[in-house]
Amino acid sequence: CNFLKEKDRKEILEILCTGLARQEYRGYDSAGLGIDGDKPGEIVYFKEVGKVAGLRHRIAESSIDTTKTMISQVSIAHTRWATHGPPSVRNCHPLRSDVNNTFMVVHNGIVTNAAALRQVLQKRGFAFESDTDTEAVAILTKYVYDSQPDKRITFTSLVKAVLSELEGSFAFVFKSTHFPNEIVTARRGSPLLIGVKTDKKLKVDFVDVEFAGAEADAKVENLVPTSPTSRLAPPSAPKVSRRQSRNFMSEDGMPQPIEFFIASDASAIVEHTKRVLYLEDDDIAHIAEGQLHIHRLRRDESGKAETAIRSIETLEIEIAEIMKGKFDHFMQKEIYEQPESVVNTMRGRVNFDDYKITLGGLRAYLPIIRRGRRIVFCACGTSYHSALATRAIFEELTEIPVSVELASDFLDRKTPIFRDDVCVFVSQSGETADTILAMRYCFERGALCVGVVNTVGSTISRETHCGIHINAGPEVGVASTKAYTSQYIALMLMALQLSEDRISFTDRRNQIIEGLCALPAQIKSVLDKDESLRELANGVLANSRSLLLMGRGYQHATCLEGALKIKEISYMHSEGILAGELKHGPLALIDENMPVIIIMTKDSLYPKVQSAFEQITARKAQPIVVCNEGDTEIKAGVKTIRVPRTVDCLQGLLNIIPMQLLSYHLAIKNGFDVDFPRNLAKSVTTE
Ligand code: G6P
Repeated sequence: CNFLKEKDRKEILEILCTGLARQEYRGYDSAGLGIDGDKPGEIVYFKEVGKVAGLRHRIAESSIDTTKTMISQVSIAHTRWATHGPPSVRNCHPLRSDVNNTFMVVHNGIVTNAAALRQVLQKRGFAFESDTDTEAVAILTKYVYDSQPDKRITFTSLVKAVLSELEGSFAFVFKSTHFPNEIVTARRGSPLLIGVKTDKKLKVDFVDVEFAGAEADAKVENLVPTSPTSRLAPPSAPKVSRRQSRNFMSEDGMPQPIEFFIASDASAIVEHTKRVLYLEDDDIAHIAEGQLHIHRLRRDESGKAETAIRSIETLEIEIAEIMKGKFDHFMQKEIYEQPESVVNTMRGRVNFDDYKITLGGLRAYLPIIRRGRRIVFCACGTSYHSALATRAIFEELTEIPVSVELASDFLDRKTPIFRDDVCVFVSQSGETADTILAMRYCFERGALCVGVVNTVGSTISRETHCGIHINAGPEVGVASTKAYTSQYIALMLMALQLSEDRISFTDRRNQIIEGLCALPAQIKSVLDKDESLRELANGVLANSRSLLLMGRGYQHATCLEGALKIKEISYMHSEGILAGELKHGPLALIDENMPVIIIMTKDSLYPKVQSAFEQITARKAQPIVVCNEGDTEIKAGVKTIRVPRTVDCLQGLLNIIPMQLLSYHLAIKNGFDVDFPRNLAKSVTTE
């Protein structure tokens, strides 16, 4: 939204399309936008299936006057990852309430009672043109507006009434012909932030929250009286605690040109402003005439104190960090960043002179963690693998029982959690719905909740009691690479710090810290083998339809993570197998045609992995062996991928790099879109 700021339409469209392209990694099966038309109050929209480039093309081919200048305007845009209805133009956002585009909505998340709402609205004569849950919201908004006798409801009150009928998770932005130059946005469960840009230095550093204001709630009562889905009783005489929201006037008290950028994450807006505020669940923000007001959707019934301000923070990311630079793909760039990203994870935390670890975000909680009855890790995808990779070192150094849980399964099982449990939530984005739900589940049961997160300001980083930012820098490629190695190191540091009071572990700790010191250079030397991995992808593995990765101990996680990378971007069936389980099933898959990678780097389990190697070669398999440089025990003629040797518990950090590169080259060879694999999104904000 821009106010008192002259912009031509071309510039506005460019901001929207570039912002969408930067959010594309969250979903990329269709894209759309809605902007102000030529007539007052009119809204014009464009939609296209596929990536944002297609949307740009659609706009360029249209007859829209891109030279038209606007002084104030609000626009909405969205890039979609289909949850309700297949990717198609009619399911693309923004969704509208009617043919006049009276209300237009963009939405992330899932409205779980959409089917019931649709029925209610269809009975009242509303026609639907898409399969989406979002359309029910747009139409419900019109229904609520039209049922107001005097039509004098404010935009905020209207949206509040609508949202009180919804179940599920959402981040919404609403635009309407009835409320030109106004926009309302709200969240519950899906991330949302607002960037603020002014020409003069921004003096305001927070925005007050207006709790259940009488003006906002008074008209909500019985708006949808017959809806079978209505959950919330109309608010009883609200306790009013109104505060004056800060506005963005200049020092002389005059309105100044101002722009607001609403987005799911900072990458969409960082080139315009670094000053952002993060909305919290049940916040509803209204922007009009250069002012931003934040209200609460409902009073907090849990008794938890609500915070009265949303502070405006300064982002630390640079635009170069979210651009590809000299690389062909974000994934490739992120793989190559690892020698630096692992250093960033350790920066200021590891003192290589006196072997001390300092994790500031955990310091105050260390005694509680050490006294914990057990440590429960909860995560999804790659983040789950990083927890698995470090479980053994936690068990060894802390002697506390450790379990590692897939967040979805953890919730499905309603796992018992107690006040003296320490629950660690590992997430690159900090926004994965399953992990967030697991976190809230543990929170409610009184456990200590620790976040291990990459994205500063994300839901998990804000809602946990304490935690570690892994500081890997923005990760854009859908297949996670540098976040894995940084999570691994952050967890390793946590285990080291927890054990610092145990004298008997001093030698082991020092050995690991020395290993960490050598790691960046060792990662660089593995990256130097890129060409031989490309040859492998284009050679022996070129026509494979399946690939097994085997290992045990610390390398089990490497196998699972390597197989996940291969599946995700090269679409080849791939399975990570615990070598100890070989004879309990997977051995039946082995013959001369089954490609196998076996991880045989030196550690205490080396003889056992050697025996697995013998078992599969006896069945005519010709495995590719990941082994240490200088290992002379590997038989001549065996194909190898050689990596430097490090401490056993760190070896997985080096072994995963060839797997990342291999998956990259397999995908490239098959002509697949590495950064945007089919059907996958980087951040899965729905259950
Ligand atoms: C998605 C991504 C994976 C990621 C997982 C967990 O499935 O495609 O790459 O590992 O979510 O994401 P998180 O942000 O919680 O680490």
